[in-house]
Amino acid sequence: MHVILAITGASGGIYAQRLLDYLNESPKISKISVVMSRNADEICREEIGGINLGGKAVLYADNDYNAPFASGSNFGDAMVVCPCSMGTLGRIAGGVSDSLITRAADVALKERRRFVLVVRETPYSLIHIRNMETVTLAGGIVCPATPSFYSKPSNIEEVVDTVVFRILDLVGVEHKGSRWGK
Ligand SMILES: Cc1cc2nc3c(=O)[nH]c(=O)nc-3n(C[C@H](O)[C@H](O)[C@H](O)COP(=O)(O)O)c2cc1C
Repeated sequence: MHVILAITGASGGIYAQRLLDYLNESPKISKISVVMSRNADEICREEIGGINLGGKAVLYADNDYNAPFASGSNFGDAMVVCPCSMGTLGRIAGGVSDSLITRAADVALKERRRFVLVVRETPYSLIHIRNMETVTLAGGIVCPATPSFYSKPSNIEEVVDTVVFRILDLVGVEHKGSRWGK
């Protein structure tokens, strides 16, 4: 599988890092294409000291429209925006393809590929909610960065993984996380 990971300027770079780590570990994943917005780069440096791409990931600049996945003719199997800022959500919902991230999102939706938006903001305005409705109606999956606690996580990584494992489920990648009822 080829997964496209867009990292945008919401708090929660640790979600992107843990997701990248698991994707790199998975035998099912052959390539990870990563794009970071400028704000994401700054926030990830501040929150977690920067992103460690790992061996399977290739980094593309957010203005590189020559990236293969900028076109429906050479798109990957799935795209995840993690974390997804309200600004990026709004541009995607509005069809504003003014960066590689928003162009790739536009392609994911038009090609009906698996497309997961890990939105992070609280509380939500009506504009945010309407934008989430729009991308949902267009075929995207809104998967908020909302951890669960029934697995009794004992550190931040385990809390973060309660979200990351749901993202992996949605992308179709196996993981070692616990499941309700087991
Ligand atoms: C430290 C920091 C944390 C932020 N956290 C969030 C957030 O959780 N959610 C959000 O929607 N925007 C957040 N923002 C604001 C976005 O970074 C800002 O709206 C930016 O324009 C988003 O750009 P991008 O979507 O191109 O990355 C944060 C900004 C900073 C500096």
